[in-house]
Amino acid sequence: MLYTPTPDTLYHPPPHHIDPLGYSRLAIITGCSSGIGLATTQLFLSHQFQVVGLDISPFDYNLLRVEDHGRFHFHLGDLTQPGQIEEGVRIAHHFGGRIDALVNVAGILDTFASADTLADTDWDRVLAVNLTVPVKMMRAVIPHLKQRPEGGVIVNVASTAGRSGAVAGVAYTASKHGLIGATKNVAWRFRHEGIRANAVLPGAVDSSVGHKIAQEKRVVDLEGYKSVQPVHALQATNPSTTSLETATPITALEVAKTILFLVSDQARTINGVELPVDRAWGVV
Ligand SMILES: NC(=O)c1ccc[n+]([C@@H]2O[C@H](COP(=O)([O-])OP(=O)(O)OC[C@H]3O[C@@H](n4cnc5c(N)ncnc54)[C@H](O)[C@@H]3O)[C@@H](O)[C@H]2O)c1
Repeated sequence: MLYTPTPDTLYHPPPHHIDPLGYSRLAIITGCSSGIGLATTQLFLSHQFQVVGLDISPFDYNLLRVEDHGRFHFHLGDLTQPGQIEEGVRIAHHFGGRIDALVNVAGILDTFASADTLADTDWDRVLAVNLTVPVKMMRAVIPHLKQRPEGGVIVNVASTAGRSGAVAGVAYTASKHGLIGATKNVAWRFRHEGIRANAVLPGAVDSSVGHKIAQEKRVVDLEGYKSVQPVHALQATNPSTTSLETATPITALEVAKTILFLVSDQARTINGVELPVDRAWGVV
């Protein structure tokens, strides 16, 4: 069940691009060690950004081009722990002397539990990682973004579950709805101070996020899982296919490209949007 990684998620670093997109710009990317965060890190480095990656899991430098190592700094830590966010932002400012962009990717799935079966630990952890951490990351970074004469950018990775009540458990759904609300609030509040904040809403992505439930020995709520299955089966299936196994998954790199677009100057009038990356799944 959940999403089995295909060869497209082996994360070969993309080729370098000769464009000015990332020259002299520093981005902080949370959740950089795997999935969407890793693909975003690789893509930003390929466009010449300096990147400071923050993650609770170790980073495998073999997944970067050797020539990118000098523009990348990794900090290992659990961002839910006191002081870790401030330490990550302090390191980033020290590394680049500036912070131009924040991409909040780190996140965890819930156990698909519903309001009547929810464990306190599941609710607390999912809300802490998926909502409290990105909001506190924005709090820590906004003073730095305000200092950029050309403006600063925030992209928060939400989910189809940030709009729909029918694709995840109650904790994940609430956390991603909350993250979209926080994104819009930041967009409005700081629109005259050169800061843009947008959310991307991926559909089901080919990554290892689902496997982590098993690794962490969290028990999936089967009733809750069964209740969202018919909706998941609709994503990206074409009329000749009928099951999740034959659906075309969205890749982490495809989400990363959308994030790069929102960070780029091409998107300079886009502020406060919730942008689906889901091959029309979200219109159901
Ligand atoms: N995979 C999907 O189908 C999907 C769909 C929609 C949205 N998303 C969202 O995309 C984001 C990335 O998911 P992914 O699929 O790449 O998952 P992933 O598990 O591959 O990556 C998530 C990363 O976040 C890190 N992380 C988790 N808790 C952390 C903590 N407390 N402190 C620091 N780092 C922490 C993990 O170590 C991991 O490297 C998440 O916010 C997720 O909710 C994923």
